[in-house]
Amino acid sequence: MAEVVIVGSAEDAGQVAADAIEHLVRANPRAVLGLATGSTPLTTWRALAARGLDLSQVRGFALDEYVGLPAGHPESYRSVITREVVEPLGLTPELVRVPADSGPIETAGADYEAAIEAAGGVDLQILGIGRTGHIGFNEPGSSFASLTRVKTLTEQTRIDNARFFDSPEDVPRHCVTQGLGTILRARHLVLLAFGAAKAAALAGAVEGPLTASLPGSAIQLHPRVTVIVDEAAASELQHADYYRYAWEHRLPWERL
Ligand code: F6R
Repeated sequence: MAEVVIVGSAEDAGQVAADAIEHLVRANPRAVLGLATGSTPLTTWRALAARGLDLSQVRGFALDEYVGLPAGHPESYRSVITREVVEPLGLTPELVRVPADSGPIETAGADYEAAIEAAGGVDLQILGIGRTGHIGFNEPGSSFASLTRVKTLTEQTRIDNARFFDSPEDVPRHCVTQGLGTILRARHLVLLAFGAAKAAALAGAVEGPLTASLPGSAIQLHPRVTVIVDEAAASELQHADYYRYAWEHRLPWERL
């Protein structure tokens, strides 16, 4: 089951996630990171940037990308990854891929899967979770075996992401996203969630039944998952006291 770490703030969570990334990159400077966009990972990127590590050899694969935004649009995930991850962390732009960043959209999914495989797979995948329970942009109904492909965003997700655009109508209806099957192939999943709006989806993902209706529940199939949440996001977890107890009493050799 997932290791659930309940911390006091998104900043604290960023430090815990940055610890896991730092440990990985010190052991393997060419590690492969799976990169989420959105608000959730921002404290992780900030914490990591402040550590001044050399990340120039790290390879990166974004989880998803909108379909239909003009090239260079500031809210395309290519632009977001460049602005929020590549530049502040000192990654090498050529080593960071975003779905559908080259070639025709029809083969974007297969191309991306092949690129991830050629890199040796993702070592550590950072994930947020949407209010619909999506991870990546795998909206309810997504197969646990799904691979990178075009998906239609729910209206809920478009409303939630409208804050990044001038008008809700500007939020694309389609995306290319790593599938749940793609995500499950990563060697370590680190899922972050903050705020009460995520509490129900988070509880469903960690403790609910395995169901494509709550795609985040796919994490229960993975042998190595770290869930890092603030108190508000943890508020609907039934076993929160046990998670706190286990974290407090973790053995010295146990690491994330
Ligand atoms: C982003 C992604 C999504 C977000 C999720 C939460 O690349 O794949 O699953 O992680 O929508 O978004 P925020 O963090 O903005 O609440």
